[in-house]
Amino acid sequence: MSRAATLLNLTLVGIFAGCGPDETPAATSLVPANYAATYPEVRGCRMTFEHISSYGAGAPTISNIRVVLDPGAMANYRATGRALPVGSTVIKEEFADPTCTTVIGWTVMRKEPAGYDPTHGDWHWQRVRASDRAVLEDGRVDRCINCHNTADCTTRDWQCTQP
Ligand code: HEC
Repeated sequence: MSRAATLLNLTLVGIFAGCGPDETPAATSLVPANYAATYPEVRGCRMTFEHISSYGAGAPTISNIRVVLDPGAMANYRATGRALPVGSTVIKEEFADPTCTTVIGWTVMRKEPAGYDPTHGDWHWQRVRASDRAVLEDGRVDRCINCHNTADCTTRDWQCTQP
């Protein structure tokens, strides 16, 4: 191996070793395969301004969203000052069309056991592309946390959607 190749290899090893386990994309998405059949809607189809993210060149642009929640979390979701149970999964479906018919991606929050990220509600954040279920962002994602970190959201266990 040439010296340049060795240096490159060392650099790559350094880059990957530098990523914490939480920032490495997970192999599987947090979106359950059959969720659409069982998760009630908590926020109907609406235009989005907050969740503009890209799914790559040529992919449609997100314009609308819907929010659904796993049934076990519903009772606490509706309560003021609520904390959602460990394992709760909240899914924001993203659409390019104004009537919310074809999902192009998801942002997901899953409540992890205490200690996962205690200063930020122990939420696990993820962004997933619908076409191949590729996980594009995962873990304690600063970008998600920083935006949800307002009193309006944190007083409702980091949920920004009004119940
Ligand atoms: C620019 C600010 C912003 C960023 C960045 C952001 N969010 Fe949100 N998010 C919001 C707002 C505001 C809502 C409520 C939208 C509504 O009421 O329809 C929301 C709603 C959600 C919901 C529905 C549950 C809830 O909180 O009400 C999920 C799930 C979610 N976001 C996940 C994520 C994830 C995962 C990321 C990072 C990949 C992310 N968000 C990044 C502002 C943001």
